[in-house]
Amino acid sequence: MEINFAVVILILVIAITNAPSSASLVTFIFGDSLAEVGNNNYLQLSLAKSNFPFYGIDFAGGKATGRFTNGRTVGDIISAKLGIPSPPSYLSISEDDDALLKGANYASGGAGILNETGLYFIQTLSFHDQINKFQRTKESIKAKIGEGPANKLCNEAVYIIGIGSNDYVNNFLQPYLADALQYTHDEFVELLISTLGEQLTRLYQLGARKMVFHGLGPLGCIPAQRAKSSKGECLSQVNLWVQTFNSKVQNLIVNLNSHYYPSAQLKFADTYPAVLDLIEKPTAYGFKVSNTSCCNVDSRVGGLCLPNSKLCSNHNEYVFWDAFHPSDAANVVLADHFFNVVFSNSPPPIPLPLHLQFLVKLTHFCRYIITQKVFFFK
Ligand SMILES: *[C@@H]1O[C@H](CO)[C@@H](O)[C@H](O)[C@H]1NC(C)=O
Ligand SMILES: *[C@@H]1O[C@H](CO)[C@@H](O)[C@H](O)[C@H]1NC(C)=O
Repeated sequence: MEINFAVVILILVIAITNAPSSASLVTFIFGDSLAEVGNNNYLQLSLAKSNFPFYGIDFAGGKATGRFTNGRTVGDIISAKLGIPSPPSYLSISEDDDALLKGANYASGGAGILNETGLYFIQTLSFHDQINKFQRTKESIKAKIGEGPANKLCNEAVYIIGIGSNDYVNNFLQPYLADALQYTHDEFVELLISTLGEQLTRLYQLGARKMVFHGLGPLGCIPAQRAKSSKGECLSQVNLWVQTFNSKVQNLIVNLNSHYYPSAQLKFADTYPAVLDLIEKPTAYGFKVSNTSCCNVDSRVGGLCLPNSKLCSNHNEYVFWDAFHPSDAANVVLADHFFNVVFSNSPPPIPLPLHLQFLVKLTHFCRYIITQKVFFFK
């Protein structure tokens, strides 16, 4: 009896310490303009900026922040669902700011997996640069709270990564750039995957354990690509390439998981089918238009929404805000989907009474014991 009692206590202790509540969730975000919250504002020479009207017109305060949409990014919406603030852009906070203890956003418009992606934007934070910045963040956190707690914080944090769109749109699909001239798609996708593998491994070595990579959407259907088709249709070749990339990333993640199991858990969130469905059946989601953008942009020259552009009258009826980026309303749909895929069984963000919190944690722990699998948030 006494032994059983001890075991129960042990289980309780482990259950409580193993299941951090979402209120303490630390998130580090890596990516491109789909996730950026303002890093490029701090890169003086960068041409990939959105710190002018009409960006942010539907954001709190109505001001452009460096987000490449009229309102919130998917990351903003997911953070709100989790009951945590959206992590600030890394370059907006000083290295000794306590805010770093809650996470940071390294995403940078125009950035890619490859260093040479988006080179005509002059300055971006490539994924390589973003990981370097994270390394500095970890050093700052160590200096603040000590090595052991810093390692623990980094191990328990969630890393949300979405990158690769620019390696297509602002690299491989630009016929005059070196990569397009030099590589076949098979060669190019292998280069992307092997580089990404090294980058995810580097994040692992820096302490990342819970990583979610969200795959690419149907890039052949963004207005900037449709403009290249005589009838304004999706470019099916581009969509096929993107799907090849996604399935190879999925394989990469299976391999990394088997390599690092059980210490690390990587997830692939396949957003392609959800985005394609939204584009193909906009009315089913309350939208009217998905084949052109709300902001009337000339996609042959840049495709960003400039201050002299004409806007549609109802921003929520359009899936796309500019020639590349979804509108706030579309981001809500995509965030809902992403949230269900990744955070489906997580404890609700609203704090439960203590005894119920405990039951939730115990259930999670038992499920862990039973399945012997480590799927975080499940
Ligand atoms: C990117 O650039 C950095 C710094 O110049 C270099 O160390 C790294 O190996 C490069 N990565 C790739 C994939 O070329
Ligand atoms: C978008 O689709 C509508 C019909 O669904 C069509 O009338 C319109 O020309 C299309 N616009 C573009 C830019 O292809």
